[in-house]
Amino acid sequence: MAPLSLFSLFPCFFLLLSPAISTNSEGNALHALRRRLSDPTNVLQSWDPTLVNPCTWFHVTCDSNNHVIRLDLGNSNMSGTLGPELSQLQHLQYLELYKNDIRGKIPKELGNLKDLVSLDMYGNRFEGEIPKSFAKLKSLRFLRLNNNKLTGSIPRELTTLSNLKIFDVSNNDLCGTIPVDGPFAMFSIQSFENNKRLNGPELKGLVPYDFGC
Ligand SMILES: *[C@@H]1O[C@H](CO)[C@@H](O)[C@H](O)[C@H]1NC(C)=O
Repeated sequence: MAPLSLFSLFPCFFLLLSPAISTNSEGNALHALRRRLSDPTNVLQSWDPTLVNPCTWFHVTCDSNNHVIRLDLGNSNMSGTLGPELSQLQHLQYLELYKNDIRGKIPKELGNLKDLVSLDMYGNRFEGEIPKSFAKLKSLRFLRLNNNKLTGSIPRELTTLSNLKIFDVSNNDLCGTIPVDGPFAMFSIQSFENNKRLNGPELKGLVPYDFGC
């Protein structure tokens, strides 16, 4: 009898551990984000990784299936960088990170957020190029990357984003010419201003030769 009752304790042991283990992949992704960020005013204080999902955390919104659909961290006094794990938020529609002090490259993996409607990263210190992978964001309507330190040219691939309504890359360090096809036919020059090395609109009919600016 004694050995048997010892074995019967094992399930209890694993049950005690389970709150940490059962945190879902979306919670893990958000917690990985938190580890990369410095949060001096404790905006992320409610992000308790032992909860079964992140749906009760402040600044996180879920749908009725407990999938994260919004992340609202604009104006949150945060610095640090972003990582590829954000792409595990497979149902995310709104990624709001504007007006912080986040630096480094924009992860190309954000192009895998296929439901994304709004990507607001303006007013940070992002550098490097605008990922070509953003051309996969077929639901995207709002893309605001203005007031950062982005370099390189505007990826021509973005002209295939037929739902794009608002596009702003002003106040960066982009170069090359401005696309004119697809949604880019509608955007005003204000969306592009204050990029010292960005030339005027690409000339229709001429194959642009300065992609690699
Ligand atoms: C950001 O910092 C300022 C100054 O410390 C503070 O007043 C403000 O509440 C902070 N914002 C947030 C979202 O915590």
